[in-house]
Amino acid sequence: MISKLILEQGTVLLEGPVSKGQILSKKMCSGLASFRSPAEQQKALADIAGLPEGMVYIAHIEEKIIGYITFHYPDPLERWGQIKIKELLEFGAIEVCPGWRNKGIAKSLLRIGFSNPVVEDYIIISTEYYWHWDLEGTGLNVWEYKSMIECALEEVGFQLVSTDDPEIISHPANSLMVRYGENVLEKTVIKFESYLFLNKRMF
Ligand SMILES: CC(C)(COP(=O)(O)OP(=O)(O)OC[C@H]1O[C@@H](n2cnc3c(N)ncnc32)[C@H](O)[C@@H]1OP(=O)(O)O)[C@@H](O)C(=O)NCCC(=O)NCCS
Repeated sequence: MISKLILEQGTVLLEGPVSKGQILSKKMCSGLASFRSPAEQQKALADIAGLPEGMVYIAHIEEKIIGYITFHYPDPLERWGQIKIKELLEFGAIEVCPGWRNKGIAKSLLRIGFSNPVVEDYIIISTEYYWHWDLEGTGLNVWEYKSMIECALEEVGFQLVSTDDPEIISHPANSLMVRYGENVLEKTVIKFESYLFLNKRMF
């Protein structure tokens, strides 16, 4: 799938799911450093694109990647990775290079990624951890940032869900969001939801 976003600075192409080769043949914007260095992030994106279930969508201009979103199975070290449901995917990351932000690129990437009918076959989780957020770069406070991300994800069908996962509840700004695909069976939803609260107290 491919679409365009016309900005003053030029035409941004939004494309995906892209292959490993398409990612490695492009340059990375030097500011794509929220999670790791741009070179390491490019390799991580290529690795995700190479996974059977992995999907990467990129925003690029003149062969330079300026933003991306990823989908993959949850990390087996996390609670969500221990749920044995093959229809459970994680919306892994969203990042737009500073200088290109607040121009609609993240929302355009979300729109293209979530217009792929394959998302309806999955429960997709998104874990929001405030320590990944660029508060300084955006000038937003932690609550404004939380609201920005949650609103953008709600527009593509995510909802906030309560959990007692220790990482999520370690800070009140963190959250778990879930998108239930239309084709997911009820028994799969019930199994997933049985993992939201694992630290039940007996009274
Ligand atoms: C979060 C991030 C991906 C947003 O990308 P973006 O391309 O700037 O987002 P968009 O331009 O599509 O804007 C999305 C919404 O946020 C708002 N927004 C974005 N930056 C903003 C800012 N600095 N101040 C106020 N609102 C802002 C936009 O107005 C838009 O809301 P609207 O639809 O109500 O108008 C980007 O800031 C980023 O890469 N941050 C670092 C990584 C990160 O925090 N990732 C998320 C956690 S994994």
